[in-house]
Amino acid sequence: MTRLKWAIIAHSRLEKNAARIVTNMELNMQHNPPSHYGVVARSFHWGMALLIFAGLAGVELHGFFEKGGDARAALMSIHFQTGLAVFALIWFRLGAVAFRPVPPIIPEPPQWQNLAAKFTHLAFYAAMIALPVLGLLGAQASGKAVNLLGMAMPLFTGEDKAFAKEIREIHETIGNVMIGLIVLHAAAAFWHHFKQRDNTLLRMLPPK
Ligand code: HEM
Ligand code: HEM
Repeated sequence: MTRLKWAIIAHSRLEKNAARIVTNMELNMQHNPPSHYGVVARSFHWGMALLIFAGLAGVELHGFFEKGGDARAALMSIHFQTGLAVFALIWFRLGAVAFRPVPPIIPEPPQWQNLAAKFTHLAFYAAMIALPVLGLLGAQASGKAVNLLGMAMPLFTGEDKAFAKEIREIHETIGNVMIGLIVLHAAAAFWHHFKQRDNTLLRMLPPK
């Protein structure tokens, strides 16, 4: 037999083995589905939730301090830095979402709840991309210099007060809708845990 034939046979065996491994993994997933989100999904979820809470605290509290003062600027800086960090991380999180297995909820909730959860998650992913972009444009258009960890951000728009007002209104509306969804999302998680007594919330916590 020629070398080429051997190479073809070896290659087709390799392919068959690879296909068998993938099928075994799929069967394993069906019969032994994971009970918890993996450490990557959990770290992204709670780490980015913390960033978002800190950023929201910054923007909600800044109004209590006098205009032009250091405290007000520091609180807005927290809002900017955490928002830009969310924007940097969301791409890696979405990459991880594409590959991770989703642990099933036991007992299975009604279909409308699964759909509502899917819609909310999608809205969160979209908001985590749109809000920092709009926020940065709005801040720059109103003449505020935005830096990331002390480094000046490139200018994406010049000063334009009318544009700034429009963009900021959209940013604030989406931001406030997001706050509403976060309250609903967290309330739903606690309702599943304490009322329904299913594993919705436990899946997002480390396995014991
Ligand atoms: C995930 C990221 C972000 C979220 C969830 C978010 C959310 C919000 C919310 C809820 C408000 C207040 C709305 C109100 O008072 O009714 C706000 C205001 C604002 N945000 Fe953001 N934001 C994010 C990222 C950013 C970024 C990256 C920037 C700029 C670089 C930014 C700039 C601003 C500005 C300038 C305001 C107006 C503050 C004022 O009242 O003067 N935001 N944002
Ligand atoms: C106290 C606050 C929070 C609690 C108790 C909580 C709880 C949970 C739970 C139990 C899940 C799994 C539910 C399921 O698979 O349907 C989940 C998933 C998710 N949560 Fe939260 N969450 C909180 C805050 C947040 C915040 C601030 C965000 C950011 C916008 C967020 C975004 C998401 C997303 C996108 C998912 C889908 C899975 C993923 O991509 O990680 N959560 N959350």
